[in-house]
Amino acid sequence: MEELGPDELAQWTDPWEHIRLLSDEQRNGALVGFLRRHAAGKRLLEIGCGAGVWSCLAAKLGATKVYAVEQSATVEVAREMVVRNGLQDRVEVIASDIHALEPRAVDIAFMELQNADPFVEGVVGAARVARTWLEGGQGLIAPRRMRVLAAAAEVKEGVEETQRAQADLARLAESVGLDLIALDPLWRPHWPYRFVGNKTQIVGPAIDIFDLDLTTDVQVPEEIVVAIPTEDPISAIVVWFEAELDDEARFSNPPDRPGHWGLLQCGFAHVVEPQDGRVEVVVSVEDDEFALRLA
Ligand SMILES: C[S@@+](CC[C@H](N)C(=O)[O-])C[C@H]1O[C@@H](n2cnc3c(N)ncnc32)[C@H](O)[C@@H]1O
Repeated sequence: MEELGPDELAQWTDPWEHIRLLSDEQRNGALVGFLRRHAAGKRLLEIGCGAGVWSCLAAKLGATKVYAVEQSATVEVAREMVVRNGLQDRVEVIASDIHALEPRAVDIAFMELQNADPFVEGVVGAARVARTWLEGGQGLIAPRRMRVLAAAAEVKEGVEETQRAQADLARLAESVGLDLIALDPLWRPHWPYRFVGNKTQIVGPAIDIFDLDLTTDVQVPEEIVVAIPTEDPISAIVVWFEAELDDEARFSNPPDRPGHWGLLQCGFAHVVEPQDGRVEVVVSVEDDEFALRLA
């Protein structure tokens, strides 16, 4: 087998991406539990099988057929997994983007396309494709529901960076007599500094931004206004997901336990004062990317 490496390009060809997600016991446990409860005697589709662990597990647990679809070069690892486990009669590894395939008939379609940005791995579009694989529209899609939540938070990076930039330039301006008024628009951007981190301090209650039923032809609204509750001035809003596989299993990266996904943090350049106990933001999802800005 050829060695995989990051310079072969795509993120998912980098072994470290797979090591990272396979290190997340809680995530793995959700997949194991789901497959233990549902795989036996069923035909499955895994969208984005990565190294093939879960497709092979499904077959070991009694699935009669598994289509393991993977778009990146890691598909070769999945092929090797299947051969070494003697599962060629039941697991068919397909090197492709799921969107390019003709549907086969399955009873269950499952995927782990979560990310700190809940949309960036295309879970909504993939779930839409998954429905076309379910014979007679009957069967399970996992995740079946995805909530996207947000809360006001204390994250100082954006504010501190802005203050450092202003202070340093003010010193320069004073020493050489430079007028910095033209820079004013720079210091008050309405869109936040987006980054993925693990630690944050929530200062308001969590609210649902989206609650998507992935078993339907769900459409994500392109732009909505959301009121984030807070009594205190805030420097950031954090966003996370809860993706429900079945009654018992879910993928989630809440602020107190973001797991390997990390937490999407949207930090403002300045402290934002709430009006009537809330900060209004405009949320949009375009080309599978989540964005948030002050209304
Ligand atoms: C988060 S990883 C999960 C890998 C594996 N299922 C696991 O849970 O260990 C997502 C995988 O899905 C693959 N993927 C993403 N979008 C895909 C698509 N449209 N078609 C096929 N594979 C896709 C990526 O290349 C990546 O390997």
